[in-house]
Amino acid sequence: MSGAVKHKTFDVSAVREDFPILKETIYGKPLTFLDSAASAQKPQAVIDTVANFYSHSYSNIHRGIYKLSQEATEAYEQVRNKVAKFINAASREECLFVRNATEGINLVAQSYGRTFLSEGDEIILTELEHHSNIVPWQLLREEKGIIIKVAPISDEGEVDLKAYRALLTEKTKLVALAHISNVLGTILPVKEMIALAHQAGAKVLVDGCQAAPHIPIDVQDLDADFYVFSGHKVYGPTGVGVLYGKKELLEAMPPWQGGGDMIELVTFEKTTFNVLPQKFEAGTPNIAGVIGLGAALDYINQFNRQEIEDHEHGLLAYALGRLRGINQLKLIGTAKNKASIISFVLDDIHPHDAGTILDQEGIAVRTGHHCAQPLMERFGLNATIRASFGLYNTRGDVDRLAEGLKKTRAIFA
Ligand code: ALA
Repeated sequence: MSGAVKHKTFDVSAVREDFPILKETIYGKPLTFLDSAASAQKPQAVIDTVANFYSHSYSNIHRGIYKLSQEATEAYEQVRNKVAKFINAASREECLFVRNATEGINLVAQSYGRTFLSEGDEIILTELEHHSNIVPWQLLREEKGIIIKVAPISDEGEVDLKAYRALLTEKTKLVALAHISNVLGTILPVKEMIALAHQAGAKVLVDGCQAAPHIPIDVQDLDADFYVFSGHKVYGPTGVGVLYGKKELLEAMPPWQGGGDMIELVTFEKTTFNVLPQKFEAGTPNIAGVIGLGAALDYINQFNRQEIEDHEHGLLAYALGRLRGINQLKLIGTAKNKASIISFVLDDIHPHDAGTILDQEGIAVRTGHHCAQPLMERFGLNATIRASFGLYNTRGDVDRLAEGLKKTRAIFA
């Protein structure tokens, strides 16, 4: 046999069998789960892995010489290898476990930002960022007097590359941008944007929260300096995320939090720090969460990623077709390059009202500002309805959404 990986054929009916929650009913109706962009559901393999770990293999890691602890450490560190492979990092030490993507961004802002940015330095964000990729930089601005500039987006929800280029100057020290918008589904041309930032001498952090479940990630090909994603959006447990950083940057950065495991030697006079990655993993981490994340990555990796992408892309096209047929429904975000996340408004019907009626039909969508208030403002809105698809969604889910929206329209007619 060659080294080629043998993938299981992607079959959505079989996939649905792997997710026990999809058998639940809500108000007596089958659950139609369309909120994977907020948090994805978990396959039985992840649930079992976490339960088995606690039942049979649990102990603290990096601390015990006894068998249980050695094995838990080994299992935890194996997941780091899986993560490195998942994002094609050059080395496992470049992959840090954090609580979620938000914590990863805060770590970079507070360790890299506090150390290497000073008054008058500029950071560029885009207009479509999640609050997690805005507020940490504002906190840094309060402290360091840096300047935040914002690359605008078009009415379709695409970043205006000309305007972005114009913002990049020798003062730009960092660009922080989403790989995929959590509201619009826009897939940003991050490789090109990173190359442009690098030409200006700036580092780039990519918020890959919405990309990790949908498209393959190659941090080396992108040449990203930092890349973050959350475990719970890739079908893994909550409370665990990943911060990737280029080794030379992580080496140069001071620790963010102090505590156990991140030290080499502690005296009351002076402490020296552990090597990567432990330097950034103070305290007992979410061990079971990391182990569960490993199971989630195994779950995804059993398929050819292209087949997942094709399935989700097919759903997106089908959903756009069905939604266009609904009276006075306006899509928010019509970028050419888009993942399976759809935002829309229904004219004068408040998104929360629509969301409540859909809920009565067993349809879970997110309504509100989606932690992206500046983006809402860009479109002159307070809120949208958002349907987001995971690998377990079907055309039947889309049909139920379309019927639910028709019902909503009829109630408000
Ligand atoms: N960031 C998550 C969302 O977009 C919570 O809903």
